[in-house]
Amino acid sequence: MQTFKDYIAEKISASLPGLFGGAVIPDGELRELIEYPPDASMGDLALPCFKLSRTLRRSPVQIALALAGAFDGDSKVKAAALNGYLNFTVDNAALAEGVLGEVLSKGERYGSPENGHGKTVVLDYSSPNVAKPFHIGHLGTTVIGHSLKKLHEFAGYKCVGINYLGDWGTQFGKMICAYKKWGNRDEIEAGGVDRLVELYVRINNAIEAEKAEGKTALADESRAEFHNLELGDKDNIALWKWFVEISLNEYSKTYRQLDIEFDSYAGESFYTDKMPAQVEKLRQMGLLKIDDGASIVDLGEYGMPPCLILKKDGSTLYPTRDIAAANYRYETYHFDKAIYVTSAAQSLHFAQWFKVVELMGYDWSKNLVHVPYGTVSINGAKLATRTGNVILLRDLFSQAIEKVDAITAEKNPGMSDEKRAEIAEAVGVGAVVFYYLSNNRIKDINFMLEDALSYEGNTGPYVQYTYARSCSVLEKSEGVSPVTKYRITTDDEHELLKVLAQFPERVSAAIEAYEPSYITRYILDLAAAFNRFYHNCQILTADDPETVAARIAETKAVNTVLGTAFGLICLKKTTQI
Ligand code: ARG
Repeated sequence: MQTFKDYIAEKISASLPGLFGGAVIPDGELRELIEYPPDASMGDLALPCFKLSRTLRRSPVQIALALAGAFDGDSKVKAAALNGYLNFTVDNAALAEGVLGEVLSKGERYGSPENGHGKTVVLDYSSPNVAKPFHIGHLGTTVIGHSLKKLHEFAGYKCVGINYLGDWGTQFGKMICAYKKWGNRDEIEAGGVDRLVELYVRINNAIEAEKAEGKTALADESRAEFHNLELGDKDNIALWKWFVEISLNEYSKTYRQLDIEFDSYAGESFYTDKMPAQVEKLRQMGLLKIDDGASIVDLGEYGMPPCLILKKDGSTLYPTRDIAAANYRYETYHFDKAIYVTSAAQSLHFAQWFKVVELMGYDWSKNLVHVPYGTVSINGAKLATRTGNVILLRDLFSQAIEKVDAITAEKNPGMSDEKRAEIAEAVGVGAVVFYYLSNNRIKDINFMLEDALSYEGNTGPYVQYTYARSCSVLEKSEGVSPVTKYRITTDDEHELLKVLAQFPERVSAAIEAYEPSYITRYILDLAAAFNRFYHNCQILTADDPETVAARIAETKAVNTVLGTAFGLICLKKTTQI
């Protein structure tokens, strides 16, 4: 659809040469200048004319007055000049036809920029480290990553979601060593990843303790176990596979609650045999330098510390694996864009190896994108992974679910246990996700579960409640004869349609900025506009049948768009709450 912004921009662009002695400003440029005024009394859209003063060589007041004339007699948009601004008001009939017609005919595709068809995006996200706790620090990469996948899929891209499991490295030497000393198979089978984490914490503490006494026996043993694992020792390989399986089992519960599936679980171990070729290429290109025995790529020229490729003992490092993995992914998926979602603490790591692959001459290096996010604390307390002072994602979800369950039981005494459990999971998990995605991703977050679960305020439960409300109106409207003409009569409907009209540009902006929070904020805007409409306008009981039918159509449009937007941020649609 041509949006009202487009319509206005084109009309102004066309009228400029006549009004200002041949001046030309392309409509695309004008479109970017058009704003949404903060207050509805200033119209639906506005053009601040001071931004055109220099090009048109007139004062903003003169420009606004001249341009207003171009809209005389326009049936869709009225323009009024005010203090150097040109304020536009969209006609009710044009708004109703344009927006409702568009939303209801496109349905679930409404809002898609449809600009990803034929292109592939690879997304690396979640990627927890096996046998370590899956804690609230991983919430960011998991939900931001998945939301970016949904957004790109919505735009038409083919998406490949990769869970790049941290399933290789010296910690497995420690794990194997610890298991052989203190482990018990049955206990681990029964207790799952928690028992593995205990072993991991225990061996780390023991290594610290022996170090304090000047000993290295356990550290040496761990290193030897990892070495054996690398050499393919049967027992060690079997143990390692088992650790990975137990961890994945645990993660998959959380992924299921979030409705997340990955297309690939090729973790770090998968790239072991793919690194030598890349190291060799670096060497042949003369990019490797030996520094104190280690092999590095000097990035001083680019204002960064060196990128470490091989340790003194020849073993590979985190950047080495990322380089090999990116190369493999390009060969396999021919991506147009490869997105990596991690905490901002890893920004330097990504900047470094992105530069290295650029120096290696890989053309695809310009299509690598790192998407960082800020830290999370809970009720004011910072997390400390090392000391085991972590909040597990699983526990956070179950706390939220439990609380919602209790609230639901109180509100709906007669509800079946099964139904209540379903609602509690959708709303409990949704509350955590929505709260998390409410802020710009780079901001540090202090997570307050009580706030996230509130049914009032800008929360997940509030928007899910709003969605359920729209479902219930639609359910009650069954049998009402369908709308013949879209029309709106009140300011609340006018405002509601304005918000609906903004969905496509918010989606595009979210994709461009890699910001799921733009969708979260949009959902809040739409929910607020719908609730105002719901409270102030009668829907099913309006005076005449045409108004009833039109308002049902408006409710249907809200229901559709809210549903689409929920899907984009991993929030479940709830018909009842
Ligand atoms: N496993 C890493 C961690 O938990 C994150 C991996 C991110 N992805 C990547 N390609 N480096 O810190």
